[in-house]
Amino acid sequence: MEKIFVTGGRSLNGKIEISGMKNSALPIIFACLLINEECILENIPMVSDVENALFILRQMGAYASFIDEHTVKINARNASLIDLDLDIISKMRASSYLMSTCLSRFGSVSMAYPGGCNFGVRPIEQHIKGFQALGATLIENTDLISLKFGKRPKNTKIVLDKISVGATINMIMASAISDGITIIENIAKEPHVLDLIAFLNICGADISLYENQIKVVGVKGLKGIRYRIYSDMIEALTFACCVGVTGGEIALQNVEGEHLEGVLSVFDKMGISHRYKNGALYIKKNASIRGADIVTAPYPAFPTDLHPQFSALLCYCDGGGSVIEGIFPNRFAYAVELEKLGARLNRVDNKIIIEKSLLHGATLDATDLRAGAALVVAALGATGKSTINNVNYIVRGYERLVSKLASVGADIFCDVK
Ligand code: UD1
Repeated sequence: MEKIFVTGGRSLNGKIEISGMKNSALPIIFACLLINEECILENIPMVSDVENALFILRQMGAYASFIDEHTVKINARNASLIDLDLDIISKMRASSYLMSTCLSRFGSVSMAYPGGCNFGVRPIEQHIKGFQALGATLIENTDLISLKFGKRPKNTKIVLDKISVGATINMIMASAISDGITIIENIAKEPHVLDLIAFLNICGADISLYENQIKVVGVKGLKGIRYRIYSDMIEALTFACCVGVTGGEIALQNVEGEHLEGVLSVFDKMGISHRYKNGALYIKKNASIRGADIVTAPYPAFPTDLHPQFSALLCYCDGGGSVIEGIFPNRFAYAVELEKLGARLNRVDNKIIIEKSLLHGATLDATDLRAGAALVVAALGATGKSTINNVNYIVRGYERLVSKLASVGADIFCDVK
């Protein structure tokens, strides 16, 4: 089994190239199923979730491959509805985007429940409710989700009961090609939602974003384009957490600064400063850093996908700090692992309070993608050697995390590429 080995205590200095955003790449790759022409997608991260998404498209008969390190070519003209590979679908959250794209393209879909990181129950009733409003029938609901489009209403208004990235994206993709108008309310406005809208509009869709509403005027079809996706805000902020732990200064290249501002303003107050120079974002740790109390919530608030890494950072902050998890109340599997490093923390319901602690090396288990990243952050500052198991979780969403950190001075290596 793949492991990461870290010896803590090295400061980080140098440049890191941020990869494309996994959570943009996945819906945009699946959106290519809506298009009968070739699409070229640039800035695609080479992570295992992306490789799995391309594999699914190829299973369906589409052409879907990397044509250089970060560019993917997709042509779904020959795609057809097949029995979708249950093993892969149940491993990946973004496979839920097959529901909307297959419904739109083929009129029906039957697939396993989408999987993804396991931090508690991840229901999809908002997706189903929206598909039903758009005229779909849920045929069965046991181990498989089977949906079939019937007569689609001309005009549809879908009010999501809770803000959901996945449901917002699925409603957009299910309604982009239609002969009606769809209003979606109580929407997620994460950068990856906006990235998908921008992609589809350049393909010929008619999608408008308002304060708390998305209006989709259905079009007859979409054309193939070349498109560059956003860079990954969570990857950039994970490296900022690393510098907060180790000290030093790193220059992050290929960042979308406006997506990072909310979190960087928190970091500023803690003593992790940032500045832009020659197109790069420089992150530097001041002599001492203070903790903070944060609450995760939908964008533009503090992202849940940075919660575990931020908790790792808090172990090194004067006064400690706390995180209230406002999206996934059970996203705390990393806490037991931080305790193995010597972290002093206390979790009550969806809140964790973390004291400044002297961390030492240990053998740790990554339990999900961001939890795995948090263990790397924590181990970089710990005294002595740490081993992190289950690297397969980390490579789902971080491209070359180990070699990027090694290139800026971390003592880290992995027993796989
Ligand atoms: C996406 C991201 C994930 C991120 C999350 C929140 C992808 C592939 N994954 O996940 O990295 O952590 O957004 O920013 O982009 N909910 C329901 N019913 C539903 C749908 C959601 O109750 O039908 C709840 C969820 O359990 C959760 C909250 O709504 O409590 C938000 O979930 P959602 O935004 O849908 O997350 P994902 O799209 O799964």
